[in-house]
Amino acid sequence: MTYGIMRYGDMSKILYLTMDDVKSAGLTDEDFINCVSDGLWQQNLGKVDMVPKMSILLHSDACLNAAAGWVEKLGAVGFNWSSYYPNNRAKGLNQYSGMIVLSDINNGLPYVIMDSFYIISKRTAAVTAVSAKYLARKNSQTLGIIGVGVQGRENLRMLQLVLPDLKLVKIYDIDPDAVNTYIRTMSDEFRGKIVPCRSIEETVENVDVLITATAIIDNPTVQIKDEWLPQKGIFIAPLDLLSLIDRKTVLRMDKISTDDITQIKSLDMDFNDGGPKVFAQLDELCVGKKVGRESEEENIMAINFGIALHDIYIAKKIYEVSKEMDIGTWLPPLTW
Ligand SMILES: NC(=O)c1ccc[n+]([C@@H]2O[C@H](COP(=O)([O-])OP(=O)(O)OC[C@H]3O[C@@H](n4cnc5c(N)ncnc54)[C@H](O)[C@@H]3O)[C@@H](O)[C@H]2O)c1
Repeated sequence: MTYGIMRYGDMSKILYLTMDDVKSAGLTDEDFINCVSDGLWQQNLGKVDMVPKMSILLHSDACLNAAAGWVEKLGAVGFNWSSYYPNNRAKGLNQYSGMIVLSDINNGLPYVIMDSFYIISKRTAAVTAVSAKYLARKNSQTLGIIGVGVQGRENLRMLQLVLPDLKLVKIYDIDPDAVNTYIRTMSDEFRGKIVPCRSIEETVENVDVLITATAIIDNPTVQIKDEWLPQKGIFIAPLDLLSLIDRKTVLRMDKISTDDITQIKSLDMDFNDGGPKVFAQLDELCVGKKVGRESEEENIMAINFGIALHDIYIAKKIYEVSKEMDIGTWLPPLTW
């Protein structure tokens, strides 16, 4: 099988897709959620292969990651080479950048190179939404978001698709411009009310769902005191990997899920000191092998890292749509 790859003689031509090209493929937020869900089913069926993510830490606040995977159903094999530079914000650049390369499963030749920033932005929020579908209270009405940049926006877009009763979003950011931009861009997209808060304490009070999407930092100090949070029924998704969260909060969770048990263990976050163990990987929730929320009272956290499966799956879909719609620039093969 050749999986519909464009050829140049015997070689695959390479399609080059910028972020604008990737966006013009027109995948909707529902499409991203469906891709993530289907990818998780494939993972649970054992039809996905992923090597452990590799990270190069250049200095304390910057790293480059390589994540590779293979999705049998789509005949897609490839990798995502991405960087995380939190200090880029001060230079007017995105914290994240990178590219995804897919290779021809028949001969290993690369046939598409695409920007991964937009895909990472969307798939990360789609993974939160799929987690929330199984772990948040179905009737959740109030969402708190700390850090209202790219993920603050994308998470609201996706969460409102799986939590139809959401009607209040409380937001907080250290940067007043980020708050103003958020209100300007999201007010028309969200059917409920968006309220800026003056403190983290005010933001997290009485929320049903809490998203933290600030920066991952080396030696974080507690910013969200456990006593400020509701004691029952909360769902928390710390996208910045516990940078703000009180360890007391983690330890009192009834359940913790993740998209990558291997990674959570390698980061020594599996709470062997008597706290709750990670009870499920997201694919197990998706296929129903593990039950997510079982009562209105449970406190649940989802610690998701982002896995190659979703990048490769979505990149293949975008490649196919781009070919059909004549999006992007064709380059000759690298060696021919
Ligand atoms: N798990 C994944 O796959 C994945 C993927 C993408 C991003 N992320 C994480 O999500 C987080 C947000 O990413 P982003 O792309 O939205 O970044 P962004 O730069 O667009 O937004 C971050 C926002 O947080 C604010 N902020 C920083 N420190 C804060 C603090 N202490 N209190 C309140 N606000 C604060 C900033 O002002 C900014 O508006 C990062 O930690 C990133 O690593 C995770």
